[in-house]
Amino acid sequence: MGIFNKIYLKTTEEVELIKESARIVGLTLAEVAKHIKPGVPCQYLDRIAEEFIRDHHAVPSFKGYNGYPASLCISINDVVVHGIPHSNILKEGDIVSVDCGTYKNGYHGDYAYTFAVGEISNEKQLLVDRTRESLYKGIEAAKKGNHIGDIGHAIQSYVESFGYGVVRELVGHGIGKNMHEKPDVPNFGKPGKGELIVPGMVFCIEPMINMGTHRVSMDRDQWTIRTLDRKPSAHFEHQLAVTSTGTILLSTYEYIEEVLQKK
Ligand code: MF3
Ligand code: CO
Repeated sequence: MGIFNKIYLKTTEEVELIKESARIVGLTLAEVAKHIKPGVPCQYLDRIAEEFIRDHHAVPSFKGYNGYPASLCISINDVVVHGIPHSNILKEGDIVSVDCGTYKNGYHGDYAYTFAVGEISNEKQLLVDRTRESLYKGIEAAKKGNHIGDIGHAIQSYVESFGYGVVRELVGHGIGKNMHEKPDVPNFGKPGKGELIVPGMVFCIEPMINMGTHRVSMDRDQWTIRTLDRKPSAHFEHQLAVTSTGTILLSTYEYIEEVLQKK
C-alpha cells in the first residue's frame, strides 16, 4: 500500500518529456553499438555511455540507484540482467544485453537491446531473434481495455513454444518520475488477469528469456542475475505509452540498427 503502489497516469505533456529521455537512451545505445566488438572491456562501454548521456544534458538513471555503481547494465551470455561493467572483455560469440536509463526534465527513459559480438552460434541467434519477437508480441497486447496479464501471456506462450524459460523474479514496470513504478509487467501471465490497461499508463516491457531453465541465481555482488543452468539468456526492453487513441512506442531501435547495418 501507500504511494509506491499507486499507478501514476501521465498527461500528454509528461509523455513528451519521457519520450525525450527515451530518445537519449536510444542514441546512447547506438553510440555503444559502434564499440561492440571482441576485445572491448565493458567498463569502456560504460564510460562512453555516461559521457554521452551527460553531453546530452541528462543523468544516468542507474548510477547510484540502490547503490548500483555504473551507468549501464551489461549482461553477457548466462547473465540475464544487472551485469555490472568492469574489466571483463567482450569476446567473439558472446551475446550481450546492454540496458540503459536516463533522467532528464524530471522523467526517466529506460530500455535495452541484446547485441551479438562478432559471429554467434545459430542457437544463440534464434534465442535473440525470438526474444525480440516476444517483446513485439507483448507490445501488441499492450492496448487499452486489455489487462497486464495479456502482455505476459503473449510473451510466455510464444517463447515457451520453443522450450525457452521465462524469468519470473524480474519483471517490466511502470516508469515516469521514478524508474520503477506500478504496474509490474510480468513476462508471464494469464489472459484477462492483472491491472486493466488504461490511457495515461507508461511502462516498460522487458522479456528476459533463457535458453534453458527459467530459474536464476544472484552472484555474491548482489546484482548480477544468472541462469541457474548457466545457459545463455537474452533481454530486450521497450518503453511505451497507452493513449486514448492507441499505444505508442517511446523507445526506438532505429539509431542502433543504423549503426549495426554499417558494421
Ligand atoms: N533497466 C533495469 C530495469 O528495467 C534497471 C537496472 S537496475 C539498476 O529494471 F539498478 F541497475 F539501475
Ligand atoms: Co526496465
